[in-house]
Amino acid sequence: MLKLIGVEAFYGKIKALHGVSLEVPDGKLVCILGANGAGKTTILKSISGVVEPEMGTIHFDGVRIDRLDPEKIVSLGISHVPENRHVFPELTVHENLVMGGFLVREKSLLKVRLEEVFDRFAIMRERKDQLAGTLSGGEQQMLAISRALMLKPKLLLLDEPSLGLAPLLVQEIFATIKNLHQSGVTILLVEQNVNQALRIADYGYVLTSGKIFLSGTYEELRREEKVREMYLGEGKYVRRARLWGS
Ligand SMILES: Nc1ncnc2c1ncn2[C@@H]1O[C@H](COP(=O)(O)OP(=O)(O)OP(=O)(O)O)[C@@H](O)[C@H]1O
Ligand SMILES: [Mg+2]
Repeated sequence: MLKLIGVEAFYGKIKALHGVSLEVPDGKLVCILGANGAGKTTILKSISGVVEPEMGTIHFDGVRIDRLDPEKIVSLGISHVPENRHVFPELTVHENLVMGGFLVREKSLLKVRLEEVFDRFAIMRERKDQLAGTLSGGEQQMLAISRALMLKPKLLLLDEPSLGLAPLLVQEIFATIKNLHQSGVTILLVEQNVNQALRIADYGYVLTSGKIFLSGTYEELRREEKVREMYLGEGKYVRRARLWGS
């Protein structure tokens, strides 16, 4: 469904992506893992058209999208839930959702979409008249995802949805993502919560300094000593430290 080939992106003279190639097959949940500053957000921004790649190509559903405007890319069926959620704090939950459906011209269809979101997330229906800025962090993340679903995207881009949430809410967000995946939404997920992300993903890419350094299924990546050490906290150095009782 989505294919990046040799994507290079810059911020001024700083090169953030060094020839990134990756694929997201229809109906799959793919995750991108990597440390702070690795370029994860830049990949998502390149897909949604916020950053224009200098080199390489991005195809979605057979259409080349790397030279298109963000609005056109949204209309093709890609919704991006950005880092730090960015809900409109002064608007109610209901108003935020209507904003999310900005490309839905027919009022009746907008209503149907709202109902679908409310059926999926009971908490959104419960809080529909509450100002988004007064929701808890976890609820704001649910709202950001709900808002993106208002356009019934074929592909959902999620940028660190679990960031800054309490452990219980992290579980809830991952359960939500798993549910979305099971209901057929194709998802590209960026996470630093490696263990949890890999558990629900079909495939993972590990990014370091703007380059894909490894890729594979959970089982394949788990076998990589470097991944275990860097991300899963169970590599040989950690084991040695445990042996020595520290
Ligand atoms: N608007 C910008 N202007 C200049 N440099 C930027 C800009 N946005 C990102 N960068 C740089 O590009 C590189 C990749 O940033 P990016 O935000 O894609 O990383 P990330 O993997 O999403 O990190 P994090 O996990 O901290 O969100 C970093 O070195 C960052 O400093
Ligand atoms: Mg980021």
